[in-house]
Amino acid sequence: MNKVLISNIYKNNFEINSIITVCGWVRSRRTSKSGFSFISVYDGSCFHSIQVIANNVLSNYYEEILNLTIGCSVVITGNLTLSVGSQQKYEIKAKKIKILGWIKNPDTYPVSAKKHSLEYLREVAHLRSRTNLFGSIVRIRNSVLHSLHNFFYKNNYYWIPTPIITGLNAEGAGEMFRISTLDINCLPKNNNGFVDFKKDFFGQESFLTVSGQLNLETYACALSQVYTLGPTFRAENSNTSRHLSEFWMLEVESAFSNLNDILDFSEMMLKCIFQFVLDNCVSDIDFLKKNIDSNIFNRIEKLLLLDFIRIDYTEAIKILKNIEYNFKNPIFFGANLSSEHERYLVEKYFKMPVIITNYPKELKAFYMRLNNDNETVASMDLLLPGIGELIGGSQREERILILDKRLLELGLKKEDYWWYRDLRNYGTVLHSGFGMGFERLISYITGVSNIRDIIPFPRTVNSAKF
Ligand code: 4AD
Ligand code: MG
Repeated sequence: MNKVLISNIYKNNFEINSIITVCGWVRSRRTSKSGFSFISVYDGSCFHSIQVIANNVLSNYYEEILNLTIGCSVVITGNLTLSVGSQQKYEIKAKKIKILGWIKNPDTYPVSAKKHSLEYLREVAHLRSRTNLFGSIVRIRNSVLHSLHNFFYKNNYYWIPTPIITGLNAEGAGEMFRISTLDINCLPKNNNGFVDFKKDFFGQESFLTVSGQLNLETYACALSQVYTLGPTFRAENSNTSRHLSEFWMLEVESAFSNLNDILDFSEMMLKCIFQFVLDNCVSDIDFLKKNIDSNIFNRIEKLLLLDFIRIDYTEAIKILKNIEYNFKNPIFFGANLSSEHERYLVEKYFKMPVIITNYPKELKAFYMRLNNDNETVASMDLLLPGIGELIGGSQREERILILDKRLLELGLKKEDYWWYRDLRNYGTVLHSGFGMGFERLISYITGVSNIRDIIPFPRTVNSAKF
C-alpha cells in the first residue's frame, strides 16, 4: 500500500491530481442531496484532517459509506485535489474507500462528536487520544521534547540516562516508591526484627528515583555539560492540578558555572523552546487559541521579548509583607513560599516570570551551596504565571566539610552519600544545575491547566488506571 500521511500532504509533498492512499479515522461525515458524501478523515500526523469526497457510484456507497460514523477506521484511495471550500486546503476525490473497523455502538461511543469535559475524558484515557485536544497536546509535547534535545545538542550538552532505580533519596527528604521482589505477605526479618533487605532483589533497599541529579553531577564533573530527561517518581500525597506521582523532569548540570550562569541559561533555554513552538506548532496552537486560551500567542510571545524578573527570597518576603492582601499562610523570613504567595508575585505583582534566588537553607536540600551569610543557599526557583514553580535549581555545595555539615544537620547518613561525597574529594569543582517539570512546561504552553491532561496516562494519589 502506498500510504501517505496527511502531514506530508500539507507539506506540499504531492502533486495535485496524483493518486494517493490515506489511512485514518472518520472525524465527521455529511451527505449532500446530489449523491455525494463529504467525509473528514484524520490520521493524527498533524492537526489537519482531510476532506474526502465520496460519489454514489462507489460500489459500497449505500451499504457502507452512508453508515460511516465518527471513529470508523478507513483506507481511502483517490485523486488529491485543491479544495474549492474555504474550510480546508486539500481534498481527495475517492476512487475506493475500504472500511477497516466499525464503531460497535455509535450512540454510546465514549468520545462521540459532542463536547466532553476534561474530567470525563480522564475516565476514558484510552480513547481521549482521539480528540482534537489530546492530539494537539501530544504533538506539542513531542515538538518540545525534540526542541529540548536539539537545544542541548547545539549547546554542547551530553544526554546522560540516569537510573530510574536507586537506593538514595536525591532530595534527602520526601516519600519515595519502594521497589521490591520480596513476598509482601512473608517478609524476611533480620536479628533486630526489621525487614531484611539484604534478601531483596538488589541486596539493599531500593526505590524509584525522585531526581537524577546526584548521578548527573558525576558526569558534569567529567564531561562538563550534561542533562537528563526522563520519568521521575514522587510518592507525595499532593492532590493538586500541578502534581503527578509519575512525571517527566529535565535536569541540567554544568561544571564551572555559578548560580548566575544557570539563571541566564534557563531563561535562554525557555525562550528558545517558546520560539520553536511558535514557529513549528502553528495549527495546534491555533486550535488551542480557539478552544482553551484566546490569549495563547500573546502570552508566549510576551515572554520572548521581556527579561524575566530576578529577586532574592528576602526581597520577595519584603514585597509580600508590605502588600495588603489576605494570604492564608503567614509570611515572614524563613517561611516557605506557598503557591498563593508565588502566584501573587507572578500573576498580580510582576505579571511576568520571576526567578527567586537565595532561599534560607532550612527550606532547601542538602546539596545547595551555602552562601557567605551562613543562612541562605545559592538556590533558584523559576515561577511562571498560572503554573507557579516550573524550575528549581542551585549552585551545588562543592566543599566537602560544609556538605558533610549539612548532611549532619539534616539527619542524613553521610555513608549513604559516599560516592556523591567522593566528587568533592577528588578534583572538586564549582558547578550548578536545575530541574524543570516537563508537564508543567507543556501546561504553560498549551494553557491546559491540569497536568493530568498533559501526560497521556496520569498517575496520581488513588489513580493508576490504564
Ligand atoms: O524542585 P524539584 O524538587 O528539584 C529537584 O528535583 C532537583 N533535584 C532538580 C535539580 O536541580 N536537578 O523539582 C524540579 C521541578 C519542579 O520545579 C517542578 O516543575 C517539577 O520538577 N516537579 C513536579 N512536576 C509534576 N509533579 C510533581 N509531583 C513534581 N514535583 C516536582
Ligand atoms: Mg522545588
